[in-house]
Amino acid sequence: MKIIFYGTREYDHYYFDVLAADPEYGCGIKFLTANLDADTATLAHGGDAVCAFVNADCSAPVLEKLAHGGIRCLLMRCAGYNNVDLAAAKQYGITVLRVPGYSPEAVAEHAMALAQAANRRICKAYIKVRNNNFALDGLLGSNLYGSTAGIVGTGRIGAAMARICHGYGMTVLAYDQYKNPTLEGLVRYVELDELLRTADLVSLHCPLTSETHHMINADTIKMMRDSAVLVNTSRGGLIDTRALIDALRARKFAGVGLDVYEDENGQVFEDFSDDVLKNEVVPILMSFPNVVVTSHQAFFTRTALQSIAIVTMENARAFARGEKLVNEVK
Ligand SMILES: NC(=O)c1ccc[n+]([C@@H]2O[C@H](COP(=O)([O-])OP(=O)(O)OC[C@H]3O[C@@H](n4cnc5c(N)ncnc54)[C@H](O)[C@@H]3O)[C@@H](O)[C@H]2O)c1
Repeated sequence: MKIIFYGTREYDHYYFDVLAADPEYGCGIKFLTANLDADTATLAHGGDAVCAFVNADCSAPVLEKLAHGGIRCLLMRCAGYNNVDLAAAKQYGITVLRVPGYSPEAVAEHAMALAQAANRRICKAYIKVRNNNFALDGLLGSNLYGSTAGIVGTGRIGAAMARICHGYGMTVLAYDQYKNPTLEGLVRYVELDELLRTADLVSLHCPLTSETHHMINADTIKMMRDSAVLVNTSRGGLIDTRALIDALRARKFAGVGLDVYEDENGQVFEDFSDDVLKNEVVPILMSFPNVVVTSHQAFFTRTALQSIAIVTMENARAFARGEKLVNEVK
C-alpha cells in the first residue's frame, strides 16, 4: 500500500519512518510538505491512500480529485474530522479513518496549562522578568483550589480534564448529551446554562458540528461570570471570536486560553515570523493582557505522536487487508 502524506514536518518522519520500515505494516510512505487542497490533490495520483491532518482541505472537490487519481482511503492522523466532507467521501468511494483518543491527557494537560498561564499571567510574568522587572503589578491570579470547573463535552479529553480539575481540588460540573460512566462521583452533570453561569473555569471539549458552532457567543458569554477563565483546545469555531473580543474589551473574563481559533487554516503550523499574517484575529487577541494563544499544539507530546503513528498505520493495515475498520468515520 502506497500512502501519500500531506502537510508533514520533521517530527512526522521521525515517528512514521520506523513503522513504515516494519514489514508488519507493509506500506510505502511518500512525505509531502505541501498541505492537501484542490491544487495539491493530484500529487497523490498513483497512491492508494492519503494521510492528512487537521488543517487539510478535505472538501468535496478535493476528494473528487483524489478519487480520480485512484485514492481509496483517507487516513486522518488526528481525532477531529470536521474538515472532511463525509458525504462526498462516501460518494467517491473513499474510506475515512481517524485516530480517536491517541492521548487525551496530552490535550487536557495543555488545556490546564493554558488555564493557568492565563489565570496566573505566566507569559506576561516571563516577559517582565526577562526585562529585569520583578514587580508583581498586573500578575494577580486566583486559586483554582475550591473553585468550580465546567467541562463542556465529557468524551476522552473532557474526562481527562475533569480528572485534572478534580485533582486541583475543584468542584467539577459537566455538560454533555451522554454521561460518561467513568466520571461517576467525580462530576455533576448540569444543563449548559447552569454550567456557564456557575463555573470559574470553562473548558471546551466537544467536537465542532453545526450544533456546537459558536456555542460560545454574545448571549452565552453574558451568562458567564466576569471572573471566569475560558479555555478552548477543541476547535476554533466553537467560539464566536468577534463576540469574545467585544467581551474582552468590556473587561469580561479573568483569563482566556486558546489553542485553536476561527479560520486558523492557512496559518496554523506555518512560520510567519518574517511575513504578513493572514488572520488578524491573533494579534488582536494577543493585545489583551489576560489572553494566551498557542497554535494547535495541545496534541503535541511524544506520547501522542507515537500513538498517532501506530494507530494510523494500524488503520492503513486493516484497510489494506480488508479487516474490520474500528476507526472508520461515516
Ligand atoms: N487542540 C488539539 O491539539 C486537539 C487534539 C485532539 C482533539 N481536539 C479536539 O477535541 C475534541 C474532543 O476530542 P475527544 O477525543 O474528547 O472526543 P470524544 O468524541 O471522545 O468526545 C467528545 C464529546 O463531546 C460530546 N458532545 C458532542 N456534541 C456536544 C454538544 N453539543 N454539547 C456538549 N457535548 C457534546 C460527545 O457526546 C462526546 O462525549 C475533538 O473533536 C477535537 O476537535 C483538539
